[in-house]
Amino acid sequence: MTEEFLSLSTTETSRYARRFAATLEPGDMVSLCGELGAGKTEFMRGITEFFNCDDQLSSPTFPIFNIYDGSLDGEPVTLHHFDLYRINSLQELEAIGFDEYLSSGDFAFVEWADRFPEYTPRYSAKVTLAYAGSESRRIVIKRKPS
Ligand SMILES: Nc1ncnc2c1ncn2[C@@H]1O[C@H](COP(=O)(O)OP(=O)(O)O)[C@@H](O)[C@H]1O
Ligand SMILES: [Mg+2]
Repeated sequence: MTEEFLSLSTTETSRYARRFAATLEPGDMVSLCGELGAGKTEFMRGITEFFNCDDQLSSPTFPIFNIYDGSLDGEPVTLHHFDLYRINSLQELEAIGFDEYLSSGDFAFVEWADRFPEYTPRYSAKVTLAYAGSESRRIVIKRKPS
């Protein structure tokens, strides 16, 4: 199933992300793709808002891995957020414990997931952002049938 949106501002991107987040279930892994500055982290911001995470996301000096504690319907949830831009090999990826985090049953969001196609089968959804003008971005959401 594929959905496509045109976002005209960061606010709109965040709104699409919140709407998308509402459809997720614990254990879902989401691949976030698109070139530098396309809005992957902005999209992630909407997701952390939806899950009531206190910590603010930081970009562009975003670290490789962050854990966010949030809640949904009063129940605690944990989000794992990766940025694989600076990871150069599968060995490096395994060394940060990527596989263990993915298997934890929590939510996982992975920027630059397409750099490691070995993991493609594990994702339940792929969100691709692309420039469509200085303040506009095309957002394509592909979900695996469950
Ligand atoms: N419609 C939009 N959606 C998302 N980001 C936008 C939009 N318009 C402008 N921007 C800007 O584009 C940049 C996106 O940065 P970021 O989310 O860190 O990209 P990425 O994580 O893909 O490298 C931000 O500076 C943001 O303000
Ligand atoms: Mg980013």
